[in-house]
Amino acid sequence: MTPGSTNWPDHGGRRAALLARFGLPADHSLIDFSANLNPLGPPAWLSDWLSGAADRLAAYPNPDDETPARAIAERDGVLPEQVLVTNGGAEAIYLAAALHAGGRALVIEPTFSEYRLACAHYGLSVESLRLRGESFELDVDAAERAMAGTTRPAALLFLCRPNNPTGTMVAAETIERLLARGLETGTTLVVDEAFIDFSDEQALTPLLASAPNLVLLRSLTKLYDLPGLRLGYMLGSPSLVQGARDLQMPWSVNALALGLVAPLLADADYLSRTRTWLAGVRPGVPNAVRALGYRVPATQANFMLLDGRDAAEAEALFAFLLRRGLLARHTHNFVGLDGRWLRLALRDSTDNACLLEALAAWRQA
Ligand SMILES: Cc1ncc(COP(=O)(O)O)c(C=O)c1O
Repeated sequence: MTPGSTNWPDHGGRRAALLARFGLPADHSLIDFSANLNPLGPPAWLSDWLSGAADRLAAYPNPDDETPARAIAERDGVLPEQVLVTNGGAEAIYLAAALHAGGRALVIEPTFSEYRLACAHYGLSVESLRLRGESFELDVDAAERAMAGTTRPAALLFLCRPNNPTGTMVAAETIERLLARGLETGTTLVVDEAFIDFSDEQALTPLLASAPNLVLLRSLTKLYDLPGLRLGYMLGSPSLVQGARDLQMPWSVNALALGLVAPLLADADYLSRTRTWLAGVRPGVPNAVRALGYRVPATQANFMLLDGRDAAEAEALFAFLLRRGLLARHTHNFVGLDGRWLRLALRDSTDNACLLEALAAWRQA
């Protein structure tokens, strides 16, 4: 085993790299608590749909097909011209940065590392605003000051709601306050709602009607457990969305992904089964982990953050879980967490029971 903060893969789900890092065989059986995907798996009808969809690959994706944007607009209560379908939520993040290339960006951290990477890619300078205290709270006054800046105002502010990896939620009223300030400072708020469908809170979509400086980013890959499909979207004012469309690569979203938007969104049964699963695991599982003596901030997402007390102890717990066949997500590449915490997905009751058993055993070890 190589201790310390090196040799950690950047994203979750990298089984092979982590097994090699801890000297375990490549076929070591693992339950993946590191990825934030819906444990229900993709909708059951998907494989039939895919086998009937081969002919879609014989043509380029049709850029004039309005069906996907209309399906999203109808579900979210916006106009189709406020919707841009993207190659995963990731492309939406990069387009939001591209729209403000060369500007000054604020990133509320710890959070998803791609915001920083996207800003770096498009020459934005990045200033980190840290969530504070045990419950990862946003210092709204500091955020407002940082938006105005000392020499130049921030062109955009990235914020994730619920936040990856903390699971915490900035209140809608706080967002409204930041939006009002942003209108004065010329700052666009980019709120990543990749995990909003897992939360009990409302999405910010209604605010789009009154806030031209609000951009919402969504991912369909988490909710429908389809990370390989690459499907997400951006919502914003028609002019801002048109700006992003102008910057998007041609045929960026493949024909299968485009064809799946409407049927995925129409699957109300899948959503309701997801809600039933969530009600069974949250807040129950985080509470059970707390009852074992661990610190876990309140989460509104399909994952939780566990305080390992320091990076060395978190790594020891990570290795202990891995040996027992449970893959956690390290936090070395989350600014401000620096490996001291572990992120753990909420899964089905059998897997969650294995996790709780292992965490109890670690306490007794
Ligand atoms: C907060 C957040 N936004 C966006 C993404 C990217 O999602 P997608 O797979 O749709 O590109 C992720 C992936 O982990 C994420 O955690």
